Amino acid sequence: MARKFFVGGNFKSNGTVASIKSIIDGLNNAKLNNSVEVVIAPPALYLLLAKEITGNGVDVAAQNIYNKGNGAYTGEISAQQLKDAQVHWVILGHSERRSIFGESDEFVASKTKAALDAGLSVILCIGESLEEREKGVTIDIVTRQLAAVAEQVQDWSKIVIAYEPVWAIGTGKVATTAQAQEVHAAIRSWLKEKVSAEVSDATRILYGGSVTDKNSKDLATQPDVDGFLVGGASLKPAFIDIINSA
Ligand code: G3P
Repeated sequence: MARKFFVGGNFKSNGTVASIKSIIDGLNNAKLNNSVEVVIAPPALYLLLAKEITGNGVDVAAQNIYNKGNGAYTGEISAQQLKDAQVHWVILGHSERRSIFGESDEFVASKTKAALDAGLSVILCIGESLEEREKGVTIDIVTRQLAAVAEQVQDWSKIVIAYEPVWAIGTGKVATTAQAQEVHAAIRSWLKEKVSAEVSDATRILYGGSVTDKNSKDLATQPDVDGFLVGGASLKPAFIDIINSA
C-alpha cells in the first residue's frame, strides 16, 4: 500500500506570536509537495492563532493532552477542547514528556486512548535512550512502548508512529539511514504480529531526531521511513525543503 508521506513540525516550547506568524506565513506561501501531509505543532497558547492563519493544506497539532477530559485539572488541556477548537492532531509520548514529566508507557497509552476516543488523530512518539541503544535493547524498548498502547487501543487507523531515538533529539547526531530503517522495519513487523497485517501496512512510521534539509532526502529513501517529526529545523525556512524531500 502507498502510505502518504507525513511531515510534522514540533515547535516544542518555542516561539512568539510574531515568530509563529512568520513561520506560518512562510508555509502558506511556499510551493509544498501536495503528496505530503504536513502538520505543525505550536505551543498550546498559539493553537487558535495557528488554526486561524494556517493554509496551503497544512494542519495543526497540539503537543499534549491530559487523559481525564474536562474538569478540575488546573493547567491541563483536554482532547474535547482540542476537538472544539478544530485541532485534529496531538503529539503524545514525546521523550521529553516521558523523561522530564515522568509520563509512563501506561499514562501515554491512556492519553492515546482519550485522544482517539475524542476523535483526534495521534502522533505517537517512541524511542530509546543512548544507554538502551548501547545495551542493544532498542527494539525491546520501542516494542514495550507500543505494547502498552495496544493494551488500551484497538483502532490504529488514526495513529502515526514517530520513532525518535532520544540520543538523536536536539543533538545533531541523526540516526544513520540503516539505523532508522532497522528500527522502522522492526516496528512494522511488531504491528503485523501483534495488531494486523493491514495496520502494519497502512501505519505511517516517522523518523525524528536531528532531521535537517541536509539528511532528510537520504532518510526518505528508506522503505519503512514514511516521513519525519522535526523539532529545531521546523522553526526555520529549511523546514520547507524537508517537507519537499519526499
Ligand atoms: O519531536 C521532534 C523532536 O523531538 C526532534 O527534535 O530538534 O532533534 O529535530 P530535533
